[in-house]
This record gives sequence, structure tokens and C-alpha cells, in this order.
Amino acid sequence: MAFMLAAAASAVGLGNLWRFPYLAAQYGGGIFLLVYLVLVVTFGFALMITEVAIGRHTGLSGVEAFRTLHRRFSCIGWIVNLIPLIILPYYCVIGGWVMRYLHAYLTYTREGRIAEIAGDTFFADFIAAPALPLQYGLLFILMTFGVVAWGLKHGIERSNKILMPLLLIMALAIAGYSLLQDGAMEGLKFYLMPDFSKFSYKTVLGAMGQMFYSLSLAMGIMITYGSYMRGEDNIEKSVRQIEWVDTGVSLLCGLMIIPAVFAFSGGSAEAMNAGPGLMFITLPRVFANTGYAAAIGGVFFTLALFAALTSAISLMETVVASIHDTFKTSRAFACLVTLLLTALLAVPSALGYGVWKHVTFFTDMSFLDFFDFLSNSVLMPVAALFTCLFVGWIIGPHVIINEAAGLRGFKHPRLYVVMIRYVAPLLITIILISSMLSGLGLFKI
Ligand code: PHE
Repeated sequence: MAFMLAAAASAVGLGNLWRFPYLAAQYGGGIFLLVYLVLVVTFGFALMITEVAIGRHTGLSGVEAFRTLHRRFSCIGWIVNLIPLIILPYYCVIGGWVMRYLHAYLTYTREGRIAEIAGDTFFADFIAAPALPLQYGLLFILMTFGVVAWGLKHGIERSNKILMPLLLIMALAIAGYSLLQDGAMEGLKFYLMPDFSKFSYKTVLGAMGQMFYSLSLAMGIMITYGSYMRGEDNIEKSVRQIEWVDTGVSLLCGLMIIPAVFAFSGGSAEAMNAGPGLMFITLPRVFANTGYAAAIGGVFFTLALFAALTSAISLMETVVASIHDTFKTSRAFACLVTLLLTALLAVPSALGYGVWKHVTFFTDMSFLDFFDFLSNSVLMPVAALFTCLFVGWIIGPHVIINEAAGLRGFKHPRLYVVMIRYVAPLLITIILISSMLSGLGLFKI
């Protein structure tokens, strides 16, 4: 139960609310959804079982877990440990966006400015502001830090049991409301019907990165949670449950946002390409349309803040634990270093749409996009590739299969072996190479 709650709280977060809908919009709707689902039930399933089983088998996390399995391969743990450190700072910046909206919904009614939030320029003005995004980002970092450093985690987890279902009910109601608006059906079609002409390696790369991100895979988190599991618990079943919950929430968030884009922006292609801002631009319009913007916006962004906070806590815990373990520092010192590093690395992400707008990477990526790309599309596939090769060819898949089998047996051992030895490594390699070549301009689909 503790494992399930911790894993679900880590998995459900901004990845579902903010990242999934905008990627689905960007990568062609239905086709993205289809590729995503296929990846989750095959590759994602195998990888999560692997991580949880490594954790339970060794009773350790990160570098130590890999070192115990094979002393020459602790280096995989190093890559895995680096990833949360890259994600955490920009995750907190987006958490800051959520706080900004919450703050606006709570105070603008009094000032008679509530309509502004749904205005065309509210989001753009906010992220381009000189200091505001950074201030909110730092506030979010401090909140997360407070919980991690002073051990308020249990309180948060307890409230999460109530707030998470509330968020779901609210998302369901918002999705239902948007679907009733004119033009929403077009959006529903776009979201659910795959258009195969929009398929490219980018769809797969995007969906794969999102899968790692949303399921909190390839960064050692599930290894740590697996180490809390008891021998008699059924790994396969727990993993399936987490996948159901997380994927269900993502699907629902897409349903809440994508049809609304069509309904409230006239289905313009431009609005679909709103990128990372999609949720923040679309939802306020829906809320304004209901006539109860302040109340609905206030409650929604409070719930979203909690979902974001629990995920950020699990990210920060991981960074603290890996500094604490690797450098054998005290926990307090590890906390302090994490706080400073996070705050420092958050600066470019927070200012990258404003003061530092002129700094871009590759094809016009801002700092935030770049960190997101680096972690999800480069480092996580690499970490997952190494994990698969390590398990498939070095320690052997039987270690995982025996661990996961426990008392009840493992359902599809053959399938697992084929997946971890051949399918997953091959898929990741092809995708990584084609994206690198196309990044260098040598190859185009
Ligand atoms: N899975 C979380 C989400 O969907 C994000 C996260 C990633 C949390 C990595 C912890 C670790 O928001």
C-alpha cells in the first residue's frame, strides 16, 4: 500500500496535466495517443517491472543497487542519478506557473480583473516578465524543500489521498463541460482518431520520452520504491495498477484540454501549437466561459498544485538521497546542496522566455525546452537502453523474472526476455540515432 501510494503520487503530476496534452496536440493527436498506449503496455511495463524488481532484489537504490548487481556497472546508476537533477529545476518552474495562476484566481476577483486571466496575452506577458516567473519558481522550490527537509511528507501524502480523487472528479467535469461546447467534437476526433500520415520517428521519440517522464521511469525512482516492497507483494499486479492510474489520468487531461482548444480557439492550428503553454492558455478560457471563473480556477489550480508538489517532492527526495549516498555527506548537507543546485538551475528555465529569450538551442528551443529535451529525449532513453542491456545480457533476465515471480509466478517470462534483450534496445537505438542524425541535418522524415 505504501509502495502504491508513493509510486502513484510520484507518477501523477504535471506530466499528466501539463505535458501530455500539449505533446498530444503537437504530435498529431490520435496517432500520438496510439503510439503512447502501445509503448506503455509493452516497453513501459517491462521497464517498470525491471526497476521495481531491481529495487526489491537489492533493497537499495540508484548507484548502490547497480553496484550490488555487478560491481563494474555502477556507472549506469550515475546516469540515472543525473536525470532527476536536470528535471527538478524546470519542473519547479512549471510548478511556479501553477502558483501564479492560483494566486491570480485568488486575488483578481477582489481587484475586478478576473477576466484578464483568460485574456490573450496573460500567459505570454507572465512568462516574458523580467522577474515574476523566477519568483514563483523559487517559491515552489522552497515549498518542496520545506516538505523534504522537515519531513512533512506524511501530511502531504495523507492529504493527497483526498485531493487526488478530487482532481480527477474535477477534470472529468471540466472535460464533460468542454465537450458540450460548439466545435469540441472536431477536437475529440483529432484526439482519438489516429491520422497515420502524421506518423514519424518524432512521434515515437516524443511518446517514449513522455512515457519515461509520466511513469517516473529511467531515473531510479521506481528502484527506490521497489526497495520498500515486501517479498510477498505481487510486482506485476502493482505495476499494472500504477500504469492504469497514470495513463487514465493522462487520457483524461487530454480530454479536458484538446477539445477545449478547438471549441474556444476556433480549432486554429496555431492554438494547437501553443506548446508548453497550452494548458495555461486553454483552461482559463473554459473557466471564464462557465461564468464562475474565480471559484473553478481557484479550486482547480489548488488541486493541480498538490499534484505537482507530490511529484516534485519525489524528485527532490531522489536528488537528496543520491547526493547523500554517493558522497557520504550528512542528509542536512545533501538537502542544502540540492536546494542551491535546484535554485541555480531554475534561473535559466524561468527567464528563458523573457530576459534570456535570445538564447536558444537547436531549432529555437528555450532553456526550459532544452532541459526537457535533454532529459526526456536523450538521457532517459540512454539510461533505459543501458538498463535493458545490463539486465538482458549481463546479469540475465532470470534475475528479474525470479524476483518478480515471487509466490504467484510471472505470467509472460518469454515475452519479457524478448522485450528486454532485443525489442527495447533496438527500438531505443533506432530512435536515438535517427533523432541525432536529423538534429545534425543529415536525415529527414
Ligand atoms: N511523473 C511525474 C509527472 O508526471 C513527474 C516526475 C518525473 C516525478 C520524474 C518524479 C520523477 O508529473
